[in-house]
Amino acid sequence: MQTAGNAQTGAVETGSTLVGERIAELQDWRYEIDDEKIAWAVFDRAGESVNALGQRPLQELAEIVERVEQAAASGDIVGLIIMSGKKRGFIVGADIREFEQLDSEAKVIEAVSTVNAMLDRVEALKVPVICAIHGNCLGGGLELALACHYRVATRDDTTRIGFPEVKLGIFPGFNGTARSIRQAGGVAAMQAMLTGRMIRASAARAMGLIDELVPSPHRLRWAARRAVLRKRKSKPAGRTKRMMSAWPMRGVVVKKMRAETAKKVSADHYPAPFRLIDLFEKHGNNFKAMQRAETKAFAPLMVSDTSRNLRRVFMLSEEMKAQAPKDLDFKPLRVHVIGAGVMGADIAGWCVASGMQVSLQDLSPEAIEKGIKAQDKLFKRKFRSTAERAAAAARLIADPTGERISRADVVIEAIVEKLEVKQAVFRDVEAKLKPGAVMATNTSSIMIEDIAEGLSDPSRLIGIHFFNPVAQMPLVEVIHGTGSNPTEVQKGCAFVTAISKFPLIVKSVPGFLVNRVLAPYMFEAFQRLEAGEDMNKIDAAAKVFGMPMGPIELADTVGLDVCAHVGEILKGTADGTKLGDMVAKGDLGKKSGRGFYVWKDGKPVRTDTKFDDAELGALGRELVQPLIDEAARCRDEGVVASGDLVDAGVIFGTGFAPFRGGPLHYQASVAAE
Ligand code: NAI
Repeated sequence: MQTAGNAQTGAVETGSTLVGERIAELQDWRYEIDDEKIAWAVFDRAGESVNALGQRPLQELAEIVERVEQAAASGDIVGLIIMSGKKRGFIVGADIREFEQLDSEAKVIEAVSTVNAMLDRVEALKVPVICAIHGNCLGGGLELALACHYRVATRDDTTRIGFPEVKLGIFPGFNGTARSIRQAGGVAAMQAMLTGRMIRASAARAMGLIDELVPSPHRLRWAARRAVLRKRKSKPAGRTKRMMSAWPMRGVVVKKMRAETAKKVSADHYPAPFRLIDLFEKHGNNFKAMQRAETKAFAPLMVSDTSRNLRRVFMLSEEMKAQAPKDLDFKPLRVHVIGAGVMGADIAGWCVASGMQVSLQDLSPEAIEKGIKAQDKLFKRKFRSTAERAAAAARLIADPTGERISRADVVIEAIVEKLEVKQAVFRDVEAKLKPGAVMATNTSSIMIEDIAEGLSDPSRLIGIHFFNPVAQMPLVEVIHGTGSNPTEVQKGCAFVTAISKFPLIVKSVPGFLVNRVLAPYMFEAFQRLEAGEDMNKIDAAAKVFGMPMGPIELADTVGLDVCAHVGEILKGTADGTKLGDMVAKGDLGKKSGRGFYVWKDGKPVRTDTKFDDAELGALGRELVQPLIDEAARCRDEGVVASGDLVDAGVIFGTGFAPFRGGPLHYQASVAAE
């Protein structure tokens, strides 16, 4: 009997039980024993909107575990339920903000080992331990869940299970490798860890990571309670799944995994997935050995430059989201897009997929029809049920005459790149626009100030500059014209955040940020090409540096006409160059089947020449140098608010090698070497 504990916590003793016992000094957890002798540990991190496993919550959980051990031994409780006290979300993972304190392998090993010992104690508890999950259950959160004896989750669409660690240059370090393999088998668990994908509750149940589903959050407590009383215990992966983790199958599986991973990333740039495969290869079906080896392999990754830089990229993305002020009274629900071409149609589709109602206007009814039809693919990918897809299709409305402009919260213009035509469109829009609505152009090369000329209130116009392809590019530049009203710019950011993109406030300068830094990089490549360098070598070198695609392939993908146009704006004429000649001939790149490359089945046809690694390395660095120099000029001229935001914009707008932490960060680290 814990009389001392009772005096401290004010629990009511009924017979031998501790009904109502609380641990008063907890800040991030609530701990309570109910009248059925079930202990409830509810994670509700103080002062935060989501639960992340930082040092304090983990220490408090350790206190709870100690209390539960004692209460279980004395028969004062019959089980433990771990759940979240937040409305949305279980646990998003370990607290990345605290990772920086772990600056040596020894510190990482110490910190991780303490948590792992605590999770072992959770697993060893003599009473059923049930984890009740609603919303995101990711990374360290999933590792805690896996240390419990049984997992109940809501079938809700917001419930997602996953190991996103590889995206931060690490892999699960709270023994999630060993425990997920035990539950789901080597193949499924490794796939989840190697891809970092977010798994729906039903799929996680099919994999064995979740044991029971309930239809809604209201049923979660009840189902968890029943699981305690019925002493539910999860079953590990069956024989067939286990066989895949044992020799000789493991050898085959590992080989395939290595090949698949190597297709996506290089081991030099992103070592984590490869180290994870090594770990599985060595210890795949030995739980205890894998637990120990996980920590050893995890520590060097955690202190590596790659992981530090990827964590930096994550923090930068958070900083961009914070550009949309939370207290702004602006909730965009209706969007009107003018221009149903390449960009307009996809912008409309993306807004619909984000839950908004969108009207689409174009001079050409065929363009509207084609643009709307083209969104089917996106809706298919985004929505599982036919009802959801039908609802999305119904939210995308053809509006050839712009009748819905007056009801829209945001109007985006994406018509031909011609100043007078845009000016005329905005005069019409301004006359119809309701008060408080945002008025934006998607122009990539015309000055906002010029388009705004002739409006009764030019300060209302801002730029909202999307990148192509809209669905894939995470960044949207929000352009602050010289005369733009800052509130309109903030509303623009709120809109961009509402459609799950990263907003970046950029000054109105030619090329804005992304095209401005890309142009000298592309022109460096074109010049080398003109001087006789092999384009296959140029592209290979850029990839060795860590760019997602080489500059020549990128030019072909964007369209050589678009490149020439951007080039004219930033650098003068493309006439007389190879680029200019090709545009004149109608060789526009991927879209016309021929550009610098010949394109077959959506892929460039390459020579299979092998190039020297050292040469590629040196050439790669030379190719990106003009981009880095331009990025530095953008910082110095205050094109965006800080050097960090230049890095963020260039990473999310161009795909600049994320593991290098951004062009300016890379330059500074090279200088410091
Ligand atoms: P596009 O040529 O594919 O589509 C333009 C559409 O606007 C056509 O369907 C045309 O019928 C329509 N249109 C022309 N005048 C109109 C008017 N007065 N009222 C209504 N509709 C009208 O052009 P795209 O590539 O979609 O570009 C549109 C805008 O987006 C341009 O300002 C461009 O600079 C910008 N942009 C383009 C990117 C790209 O990669 N294509 C990337 C980012 C921005």
